[in-house]
Amino acid sequence: MKIKDNIVLITGGASGIGRIMGRMALQKGAKALVIWDINEKNIEETVASHSAFGTVKAYKVDVSSYETVKEAYDRTCADFGKVDIIIQCAGVVTSNKTFNDNTVRDIDLTMKINTIAPMYVGLVALNDMIARDSGQIVTIASAAGMLSLPKMSVYAASKWGVIGWSDSVRIELERMKSHVQITTVAPYFINTGMFDGVRSRIFPILDPERTSRKIIAATEKGKIFRGIPFAFHFIRTLQGLLPIKGIDLIFGDFCGIYSVMDHYTGRK
Ligand SMILES: NC(=O)c1ccc[n+]([C@@H]2O[C@H](COP(=O)([O-])OP(=O)(O)OC[C@H]3O[C@@H](n4cnc5c(N)ncnc54)[C@H](O)[C@@H]3O)[C@@H](O)[C@H]2O)c1
Repeated sequence: MKIKDNIVLITGGASGIGRIMGRMALQKGAKALVIWDINEKNIEETVASHSAFGTVKAYKVDVSSYETVKEAYDRTCADFGKVDIIIQCAGVVTSNKTFNDNTVRDIDLTMKINTIAPMYVGLVALNDMIARDSGQIVTIASAAGMLSLPKMSVYAASKWGVIGWSDSVRIELERMKSHVQITTVAPYFINTGMFDGVRSRIFPILDPERTSRKIIAATEKGKIFRGIPFAFHFIRTLQGLLPIKGIDLIFGDFCGIYSVMDHYTGRK
């Protein structure tokens, strides 16, 4: 749906593409930008820089806690009346360890923030949107949610999970004949710092500004699914056509995607 004159909420909106999309939403005439993030320092900086473009309000929210999400939603609605568009950007990656070296904390944190938190946000907001027959939830998953990826198995699992959730909700709403829109986004690596150190042989690491612009465009066009780059729309087609070892050959050996995480350092 169109951003102009609407209330836009971005989780994880104090860093990376969430922060850029917040600025873009204000530049497009959003009535207000609401940021939910856990990082206080980044929240302060983002509010200071974005206030030049319009009304911004930020709440410190840990989206992995249902109680905190519910409380933040109620406060946001008390302050702004309603939320029209939610862009779910909050996300984490913990390491490039092989699965056997992960800790219970690595698994819990990744699944809670990347997979369960978007469901909590959907749970608190969707009924109001359904009642108004208007609204949109955009969930930033990842291309890692369509591929099997060594050294990021838990992250990949979290993103496969959130794609399945987001697109299932989309079908539910369509079957209800609701006008509430669901958009699922699956970008390749973006140069925000989250995946610092990754080396990609064939597909270039994405530019945060351009990627944000594409996600905002997909939001306004009400796209069901947006892979970035567009070629990634064909991943599932290939998976349907080729044997699994053929996929390993193309993505692993030829494109080098199975070794991208070898030099991962993450944000310092
Ligand atoms: N950067 C990439 O290469 C890439 C590629 C594909 C998908 N993605 C996904 O896009 C989204 C944004 O990525 P980014 O690169 O802008 O990341 P980023 O690290 O710059 O921003 C993520 C934001 O989420 C916030 N956050 C983390 N845990 C939180 C919590 N519990 N509650 C509230 N906020 C929390 C962080 O404070 C941060 O502001 C993520 O979901 C990520 O998985 C990123």
